[in-house]
Formats: sequence, structure tokens, C-alpha cells
Amino acid sequence: MTHAITKQVYDAFGDTYYSPQHNTIRYFNAIQAFPIRIAFAEQARFLRKPLEEVDVLNIGVGNGQHCEQLCLPIYKHVVRERVRWDRITDFDISSAMLQAAKGYYPSEEYQRRFAEREPLQVQGDVLELQDILPSESFDIVLAGLCDNVEDQKRIYEEAFKVLRPQGMFIVTYPHKTLMTIIRQELYGIHPAFTRFLIDGREYLVPSFTPEPEDIEELFSDAGFEAVQAENLYHDQNFDFHNQAISNTVRKAQKKSVEDLPVLVLGTGRKPDGLTELERKEKRDPWFWYN
Ligand SMILES: C[S@@+](CC[C@H](N)C(=O)[O-])C[C@H]1O[C@@H](n2cnc3c(N)ncnc32)[C@H](O)[C@@H]1O
Repeated sequence: MTHAITKQVYDAFGDTYYSPQHNTIRYFNAIQAFPIRIAFAEQARFLRKPLEEVDVLNIGVGNGQHCEQLCLPIYKHVVRERVRWDRITDFDISSAMLQAAKGYYPSEEYQRRFAEREPLQVQGDVLELQDILPSESFDIVLAGLCDNVEDQKRIYEEAFKVLRPQGMFIVTYPHKTLMTIIRQELYGIHPAFTRFLIDGREYLVPSFTPEPEDIEELFSDAGFEAVQAENLYHDQNFDFHNQAISNTVRKAQKKSVEDLPVLVLGTGRKPDGLTELERKEKRDPWFWYN
């Protein structure tokens, strides 16, 4: 398997993924949660479907926080609707991460009361996605922090195949500026790797940290349209109770990095081959009479 080390690391890491020792992930999730949710809402509006009817594939589900952020009604003050748990497919190379994701699933009582099953879980390597899942079966594919995969081009190609026409691919990555500072100055490692410390042993896993232009190119090369990529910034007022990262950020700021990009978010849509006019006609056959 190409990603044997990645699998090994995340399998060993699954239990403690959201523990206080792994503040980086908590910090990243706080920064990316709302932009991801907004992209979901925009896609549902574009498809003219309620968010509840959108089918979602979550590649590299991790501990499943995104599912919680997308499915729980308490987030309705940001986007009125929510995603249904049973319209999500969790996909991950690591069985431990899939197990960790279950921690966020609705209780049995909730499932009975609201007639909503838990997400489907599928274990596998994203590079074999289209061999494992049926093509053209999702409206949204989310790959949050998909930086560990070396063959980035393939992720976009695989996502393209499993998306329905007009489906949206949403990706996030750690940004180069922040990660270079953390990796070089805090850990003393090459910035193209991320470091895992498990039982006192250090593991280095490749990590792709792009600029928005790099993401735009990956989307366009795979055939996506309506491509957008932007930096997500460190929020000065956001209290993330994280000494290690806040020290690093402060350190970076002393180096006069004024606005420090933390993550990059990219979105692109699979074309359906129709013109805007044809699409309007298809959506509303009475279009010409209105
Ligand atoms: C950095 S975590 C991100 C988790 C979550 N998406 C988030 O945004 O917090 C990366 C996740 O991707 C999974 N992963 C890494 N390489 C993978 C691959 N080649 N195929 C499928 N999943 C992979 C890992 O097991 C891990 O759960």
C-alpha cells in the first residue's frame, strides 16, 4: 500500500486525535468549520436542493468533527438547514480514525426518534476511491486537511469521478507560511513533513502545504470549473486556549508577518456540459413562459 506509514500513524493516533495534546487539530477545525459550512450552503443553493437532501462523501474523516458541525441543529444560526447524518459517507484509510468518528454520531435514541441512521463508513485509500465507491454518486465531496497524500493530482481526479455533474469538491490544507514556521522553528524538521509523536517516537509523514494558486491549478487540471481558493486567516480575537500555537503565531508576528494565513480553502464544481441557459431550462421547463 502506498500510504502504509500514514495508515500506521493514524491507526496509532486515533484514540488521542482530539485530546488536549493535539491542539493543532482543534485550532484548525475552529478556523475551517464555518467556511466549510458556508460552502455546503452555497452548493445546496446552487443545486436548488435543501441541504438535507445533499449526499456527502467525507474523505479523511478524521475524528468526525465536520460531520457534527454539519449535522447538528445547534449550528442552525449560521446556516438554517443541516446535513442528514445518513446522507454522509465517511471514508478514511485508518480504522482507528473511523472508530473515533463514531464518537460524534447520534445516539440510538436520536436515531429512533428522528428516523435517521448513522453515516456509512468505508475504509480505503483515497487513491482507490473510484474502485471502491460508485461513480457520480455525491453532491459534495469534502477533503478537510488532505495534505498527507503525496499524489495530490490523483485526489482531484478521484473526487471528480465520484461526484455527480454539478457536484462540488471542497478541500482544505494547512498554509505554507504558518506550517514552515512551526515545522522549522518549533520542531526543526523539513517543512514538507508533518511530525507525529507517538509513545516517544517521532514519525514524519509528507504534508502538502499549498498557496491558493497551487489549488486552483489542481482543480482546473482535473476538469473542475467555478474554482475558488482563498487563505483562511488567523483571527486575532479568537481565543483557542492553545499556548503552543499562540506562542508560535506570536513568534511569527514578531517576524512582521502581518496577516498570517493558517489554512487554504478551495472549491470547484464538476461541469455538467450545459450552458447557463440550458441549465435554467432543465431546472424549470416553464422558464420561457415566466
Ligand atoms: C489531518 S487528518 C484530517 C481530518 C479531518 N478531515 C479534519 O479536517 O480535521 C487526515 C485524515 O486523513 C486520513 N488519510 C490520510 N491519508 C489518507 C489516504 N491516503 N486515504 C484516505 N484517508 C487518508 C487520515 O487517516 C486522517 O484521518
